[in-house]
Amino acid sequence: MSTPFRAVAIDGPAASGKSTVAKRLADSLGLIMVNSGAMYRAVTWQILQEGVDPSDPAAVVTALTDMEIIGGVEDGLSTITINDRLLSEELRLPAVNQNVSKVAAVPEVRECLVAMQRAYLEDNDLVMEGRDIGSVVFPETPFKIYIDASEEVRAARRSKDGEADAVAARDQQDSQRKTSPLVIPDGATVIDSSDLTIEETVKATCQALLARGWED
Ligand code: DC
Repeated sequence: MSTPFRAVAIDGPAASGKSTVAKRLADSLGLIMVNSGAMYRAVTWQILQEGVDPSDPAAVVTALTDMEIIGGVEDGLSTITINDRLLSEELRLPAVNQNVSKVAAVPEVRECLVAMQRAYLEDNDLVMEGRDIGSVVFPETPFKIYIDASEEVRAARRSKDGEADAVAARDQQDSQRKTSPLVIPDGATVIDSSDLTIEETVKATCQALLARGWED
């Protein structure tokens, strides 16, 4: 029997620091890092490109049916290509920030992207970060971390990055949607990063994984 690949699930609200922590962790453990939010952002960007109303779930589903979405890996990081266009900088545009929660609330969008996310584990040990990784994508993994930070700290981090992003509004929508809302997954270790440096947060995450039986 082949060894099952292992998944570290990192969830948390917007700008909690989870992407940076997930990347550092993946580098130090030799895993790939999969950014699931980038997939929801990519679909949102494409919807906006096509002039589709992101508030109209039926129109979003119709547009989704025509998209060719391909997830890849480059230099240990997940990539996302839609209709042959590799997306990167576009994903952080203010219009994407404003509309991504609406698109991510559409069950068919989630179904499609969750299947892509699970497929990454067929070939790789990985760290995946998002909102429903420990609760829905890999509920069976013992390696579940939830990274939190106060609303003030998260808003300050985003504006320091020079990004216009109403994190509180986005969190509210992400926590209140019907399908796979942002939750603390059952059994996850919660790390509040409000008063921690990135290094301290990574260290606390590593300690939690070791306590959960992670072996190199
Ligand atoms: O992690 P991020 O801020 O780049 O995510 C962008 C949006 O995508 C977030 O507001 C909600 C959605 N998302 C989601 O619904 N489920 C995930 N696993 C990851 C992101």
